Amino acid sequence: MEKLLYTGKAKQMWQTEDPDVLRVVYLDQATMLNGKRKDHFDGKGEAANDISTLVFEYLIDNGIPTHFIKRLSEKEELVKKCHMFPLEFVTRNVCAGHFASRFGLEDGMELAEPVEETFYKSDALDDPFANESDAVAIKACTHEEYQQCWELTRRCNKLLTPLFKKAGMKLVDFKLEFGKLSDGSLVLADEFSPDNCRLWDIKTNAHMDKDVFRKNLADLTTTYDEVYARLQEAVKED
Ligand code: C5P
Repeated sequence: MEKLLYTGKAKQMWQTEDPDVLRVVYLDQATMLNGKRKDHFDGKGEAANDISTLVFEYLIDNGIPTHFIKRLSEKEELVKKCHMFPLEFVTRNVCAGHFASRFGLEDGMELAEPVEETFYKSDALDDPFANESDAVAIKACTHEEYQQCWELTRRCNKLLTPLFKKAGMKLVDFKLEFGKLSDGSLVLADEFSPDNCRLWDIKTNAHMDKDVFRKNLADLTTTYDEVYARLQEAVKED
């Protein structure tokens, strides 16, 4: 019998009969303000699953260790069970979002180098900033694990920035999460979809990510479908 482990903001995680394998179900919903606003969008779960599957397969093909096993159906995938680090690894290639507001800068400003920010995952605390010594002090990870997560994040940025560029989009920023498998190896986990990155059209700078929902700009599912269609073309050319 499968058991529901938890329902998150955009996904459910189910324990399958294999103790090392989980089934992920992508939900037709989007949330903002750490879950304080939640809306339903037909087809959004499928579009997010399509994009995340494509990105994870691309990263695996390029040597990144991940939890991903396979896409099961329109809204479902199988992943290896991980012990997750309670941390979010955010990379910013272009100034936007909270970075722009924190430093009083314009969205779109070029950055001298990619910004690396780590946050402690806690809805109650609104995901506070956590540097390496914070993360180690609160036992979220070790120094080595923190460094390994950032090394993998940099490799993902080097692979994904050109992939999205080929698909006509700027990878403005993104958030990754990591975990450890039962054998102790460290892997990229969670998802990669426009729910957890910012994508701007290269020509028009139009938002092609969850900001469409945050700022009420266009239909979310239509936007995600467009991202998927462009990525499929880009991967074909690769
Ligand atoms: O909000 P902020 O500008 O800090 O977000 C930076 C990037 O990290 C964005 O792509 C956002 O979607 C992602 N993010 C996320 N989950 C969070 C916080 C940020 O996916 N809890």
